[in-house]
Amino acid sequence: MNRSRQFASDNYSGVCPEAWAAMAEANNGHEVSYGNDSWTQRAADMIREIFETDCEVFFVFNGTSANSLSLAALCQPYHSILCHELAHIETSECGAPEFFSNGSKILLLPGENGKVAPAAVAHAVKRRNDIHYPKPGALSLTQVTEVGTAYSVAEIKALTETAKSLGLRVQMDGARFTNAVASLGVAPADITWRAAWTCCASAARKTALRWARRWCFSTANWRAISITAASRAASLRRKCGSSPRRGWGC
Ligand SMILES: Cc1ncc(COP(=O)(O)O)c(C=O)c1O
Repeated sequence: MNRSRQFASDNYSGVCPEAWAAMAEANNGHEVSYGNDSWTQRAADMIREIFETDCEVFFVFNGTSANSLSLAALCQPYHSILCHELAHIETSECGAPEFFSNGSKILLLPGENGKVAPAAVAHAVKRRNDIHYPKPGALSLTQVTEVGTAYSVAEIKALTETAKSLGLRVQMDGARFTNAVASLGVAPADITWRAAWTCCASAARKTALRWARRWCFSTANWRAISITAASRAASLRRKCGSSPRRGWGC
């Protein structure tokens, strides 16, 4: 059948044939559940291999859950989350990051070409220090940005160094992370943990497997709280779950 193509949104395409075939193969036979199955182990190990680090990997249902749960793990309710004014977490997630973090406030930063700059981050942190201002706790970056630009390695480094000096954690909305890797010609590690002091990347592969959205932590000791958070947020899958290490989970 000759079907027309729509390019208004990268959500319009179907799943790529290789991913669809792999899903069908994984559907054969029985497997243990909630992340202790061999497919989850393999998928998480491959992500660790691609990112060249021993990170924890959690599969959740969509990009909004990945953003919300990762930010909730990084912030306390009295914190604020700094992001670009066009960031998806602000414009298109209906308050989910605030909801799942029990009230962390999103603070918007201006910036050309959809990017935030270190000076704007510093300004947002330093402009007030009174008790009525939500304490800046995290910086959220979108890679590729909402307007299709990519932060370079140098830009990511400058931003994460500024964040570190100001006591902020860094989260990355990686809905189009694979496009950034391809267009910059870098390794995934170069624009995540190798550039950042603490980086949590929510990397959603819009380009391949629609529902295998994932979030990864480069810091292993968040594993326990993160699995519990995914379960409480109704984002724990029976198959291809959130518990990537053998011997852990249900
Ligand atoms: C930059 C960005 N982040 C997050 C999301 C959220 O993804 P989902 O629709 O799977 O919740 C999208 C979806 O379009 C997006 O473009």
